[in-house]
Amino acid sequence: MNQANGTLYGIGVGPGDPDLIPVKAVKILNKVDLIFAASSTKNLHSRAVEIVRPHLPETARVHMLSFPMTKDPVQKQESWRRHARTIIGELRRGRNAAFITLGDCLTYATYGYILQAIREISPATRVITIPGITSYQAAAARINLPLVEGEQSLLVVSGAEGGDNLRRACACAENVVILKAYRNTTDILAALEEAEMLPASVAISNLGMADEKVIQDVRELAELRPGYWTLVIAKK
Ligand SMILES: C[S@@+](CC[C@H](N)C(=O)[O-])C[C@H]1O[C@@H](n2cnc3c(N)ncnc32)[C@H](O)[C@@H]1O
Repeated sequence: MNQANGTLYGIGVGPGDPDLIPVKAVKILNKVDLIFAASSTKNLHSRAVEIVRPHLPETARVHMLSFPMTKDPVQKQESWRRHARTIIGELRRGRNAAFITLGDCLTYATYGYILQAIREISPATRVITIPGITSYQAAAARINLPLVEGEQSLLVVSGAEGGDNLRRACACAENVVILKAYRNTTDILAALEEAEMLPASVAISNLGMADEKVIQDVRELAELRPGYWTLVIAKK
C-alpha cells in the first residue's frame, strides 16, 4: 500500500429523511471520486442512494454493488469478497470512495461484512467510518418516546427468525428494539406477550416514507403482514 492509495469512507445515511444525514457525511460525499451502494441482484434500486441524492452533484459517480438474496453462507462470503476486491481496486487507483448504508453503517449492515473482507484482503486499507442515525433512534424520535432511561437497559435484536432472540434475552432489559420485524410476526407477538411487553409496544413501518405507519397496537401486525421496513419498540 503506498501513499497514493485512496481512502474508503463508510457512511450511514440515516433511515429516510435526507436532512438526517450527518454534515460530515455530506461533505465527504461531495469530495469522494465514487460512491458505492448495495442493491439486491433482483433490481438496482437503493434507498440509501435516494436519501443522499439531494446532497450530490449531478456528476456524482454511483456504483451499485448487487448482493444475492440468499442464506447460503458460501455465496454470501463470495459476494462480500468480490465487492471488497472491486472497492480495493478503485482505492489502489488513488481514488477515494464512499460506501453508503441505510441507517447506521455498523448496525445490521452489509458494510460490516465488506469491512471485514477488506481487512482480510488488504489489511492496510485506510477506512474511516461515519456513523448514521439508526432506524430505531429515528422511530423513537418520530413518536417522542424515550428509548432508555436511568439505570435501565436497551436490547436490540433481530426478529427475522421470530421471537426467540427476544425470549433469550428479554430478562436483561426493560426496553427492546426488534428490527427486521416483518415476518414471523405471530411468534414475535407471542414472545412479547410472554415478556409482558405487549401493552407498551409500538411498531413503525416505512418510517420517513410516503406510506409511513405507526402501529400503536402491535397485535395488528399479525393481520397487517408488514413489509421489510418494520421495527418494534417494546417496553416492560
Ligand atoms: C438490515 S436492518 C438495517 C438497520 C439499519 N442499518 C439501521 O441502522 O437502522 C433492516 C431493518 O431496519 C429497520 N428499518 C430500517 N429502516 C427503516 C424504516 N425506514 N422504517 C422502519 N424500519 C426500518 C427494519 O426493521 C428493517 O427490517
